[in-house]
Amino acid sequence: MSPDSIVAALQLERIHKAFGSFVALQSIDLAIHPGEMVCFVGPSGCGKTTLLRVIAGLEAQTSGRVIQNGRDVSHAPPAARDYGIVFQSYALFPNLTIAANIAYGLVNRRKGRAEIAARVAELLALVGLPDAGPKYPGQLSGGQQQRIALARALATAPSLLLLDEPLSALDAKVRERLRGEIRALQRRLKVTTIMVTHDQEEALSMSDRVVVMRHGAIEQIGSPQDVYERPATPFVADFLGKVNVLQGVAVGAGRYRVGQADLELPVDGFAVGDPVRIYLRPEDRHIEGDLTQLPNRLSGRVDHIEYLGTVCMAEVACAQLGQPMVVSMSLNQLHDLGIREGGDLTFALRTDRVRVFGEPAAR
Ligand SMILES: Nc1ncnc2c1ncn2[C@@H]1O[C@H](COP(=O)(O)OP(=O)(O)O)[C@@H](O)[C@H]1O
Ligand SMILES: [Mg+2]
Repeated sequence: MSPDSIVAALQLERIHKAFGSFVALQSIDLAIHPGEMVCFVGPSGCGKTTLLRVIAGLEAQTSGRVIQNGRDVSHAPPAARDYGIVFQSYALFPNLTIAANIAYGLVNRRKGRAEIAARVAELLALVGLPDAGPKYPGQLSGGQQQRIALARALATAPSLLLLDEPLSALDAKVRERLRGEIRALQRRLKVTTIMVTHDQEEALSMSDRVVVMRHGAIEQIGSPQDVYERPATPFVADFLGKVNVLQGVAVGAGRYRVGQADLELPVDGFAVGDPVRIYLRPEDRHIEGDLTQLPNRLSGRVDHIEYLGTVCMAEVACAQLGQPMVVSMSLNQLHDLGIREGGDLTFALRTDRVRVFGEPAAR
């Protein structure tokens, strides 16, 4: 069966949202497959939350359609849509026990006492807090509260899970652990999930597909590998991870001049004299072994090393380029190659993932 013949779990058609004269969402088209985990990622204010709220029916779109499992819910109130939602702030009811918090949606649906108790126990076990039922939210850590919020969102076994920056308020360590836990849970339950985040690492590490948003529009949709290794636009390249932007000029087929350096890059499509911006990530370089036979060899003084632990970033003042370039290396390479601030570093550009863009279109 081709993906097209499967009914989308969620289909957005030309969603447009204006707040007065301000356009928050412009013509969003998106189909999400059953069981898929999709992240909406983009800078603050780009419309992620607004789009999630439109999907949830918490915000009315100005125009466009929301179709869930083949059913048009564009004008259905939240309660008539089938989803569970988790927000950034824990939003648990502080005066209810954890068990009562999780049971909330089930009580509303008039389930029997025994059935509710069994379901609550099942959900507590699912999120790894089997004994938390009698406690109150204030007695739990932030990470534990978000697990409970997740259990509450899953209580009615919705076909769609919506998460709005659920990890943003947590410490780095807890955040990382919960990333893995949420993803594992999502895979196990096969629940179609949309998570909003402004954190590129979160988006890359958790998603089947990443939706990169900017100014209320979708800039690129793709797998984490697509958007990181083959960014469609300068914005995507820049937003997801670190990138060196080299200002240059096309001087022939696959040939570019940056400062005094002539670079050979496996990219065509520019006329001689066209100004270009060449995007290379810090890891797009060779630094070990015999580099003498490699094209695009450069060298310069290491001005600064950003020490990040596992990976380190060296800023190299590259006279040939006429601009500095950030080169990454593992901690072991840093030591083994004797790379230090004030020393020289020779490297060759690794060009298999290079992106070359023309001058920016006005936007
Ligand atoms: N109720 C509202 N009234 C007016 N403007 C709003 C409202 N909600 C959101 N906005 C604006 O819409 C834009 C997108 O907001 P939002 O979706 O919250 O962004 P994100 O979640 O990506 O940070 C922002 O510029 C925000 O100020
Ligand atoms: Mg938001």
